[in-house]
Amino acid sequence: MKKTVDKLFNEGILSKQELISLLECNDDVVNEFLRECAVKKRKEVYSNHVYIRGLIEISNICKNDCFYCGIRKSNKNCSRYRLNKSDILSCCETGYKLGFRTFVLQGGEDGYYTDEILIDIISSIKKEYPDCAVTLSLGERTKESYKKLYDAGADRYLLRHETANNEHYSKLHPAELTLRNRMECLRNLKEIGFQTGCGFMVGSPFQTIENIADDLLFIAEFKPHMVGIGPFIPHIDTPFKNEPAGDAELTCKILSIIRLMLPDVLLPATTALGSVEKEGREKGILCGANVVMPNLSPKNVRDKYMLYNNKLSSGAEAAESLNMLKESVKKIGYEVVVSRGDFKTKN
Ligand code: 5AD
Repeated sequence: MKKTVDKLFNEGILSKQELISLLECNDDVVNEFLRECAVKKRKEVYSNHVYIRGLIEISNICKNDCFYCGIRKSNKNCSRYRLNKSDILSCCETGYKLGFRTFVLQGGEDGYYTDEILIDIISSIKKEYPDCAVTLSLGERTKESYKKLYDAGADRYLLRHETANNEHYSKLHPAELTLRNRMECLRNLKEIGFQTGCGFMVGSPFQTIENIADDLLFIAEFKPHMVGIGPFIPHIDTPFKNEPAGDAELTCKILSIIRLMLPDVLLPATTALGSVEKEGREKGILCGANVVMPNLSPKNVRDKYMLYNNKLSSGAEAAESLNMLKESVKKIGYEVVVSRGDFKTKN
């Protein structure tokens, strides 16, 4: 199996069967070797630098009803909010002073945010903070809409594919959401010129190891600039409330595999990983992740953006505690940097 890791290190790709064997491998020596290889690759491209993104959760109002998500439309126990332009700009102001040079506007698919409103918000942020990148994570929109947001100055877009398998996709989403449309959106985003991110949950209900191998093969082929991977965590007010959470160790292993497949990818140690496991974020970094996304949302809405239960939003997870985060990153031999932290390629 060590040979398989060597092959992944040297060639950046494995067959589906090899991926399955590696994912199923329980040998500590092999898994540690995989981790070390991933760290070596990440250091070649990004040294020991960790990029930070200020995450602004702009709305928990969503027209979709994804079975796993706590802000799904049919959750009547969710207390809904949305931020307006001035709320968002004041988050950016706080974030800029703290050292953030990327702002991520994430939210449910909330019809309030028309192209016009978003263009105004994005161009205002870019005007005020020309040295900052703006990342959007606002779900599925038309190609024309994406293009307008790009032209307004948005730099990056995160849209997890959730699963590359059609049948699995339909077990996680209502019928009106399709993998086909999701993939179309991802292709459009990349074509328009966004630094584009896809990704999936580890341990989502009905997921098989074969599904994960297919997700990895999709990622290898699509070559996104960013990949968001975190464990599934059940939310009490969803149909998946009794499903088990995903495994932190497997999540970390997948981070290492992705780092070897796409050495220059921007790979966050996600909030979900930090939420299921003590020092999960640090473990993610030690497995090849190079990004963390502290919460920059106004404090009074933080507990409302509840995609899953027990979501971290305080401590080093909170943007205002950046010093704590810097310390914990330093402790493991890495360094938080003040930078836009764009996608780099070695070539
Ligand atoms: N557990 C973990 N991640 C979740 N997401 C949504 N609900 C959950 C959950 N219960 C993830 C999805 C989505 C991203 C914004 O959050 O992958 O794309």
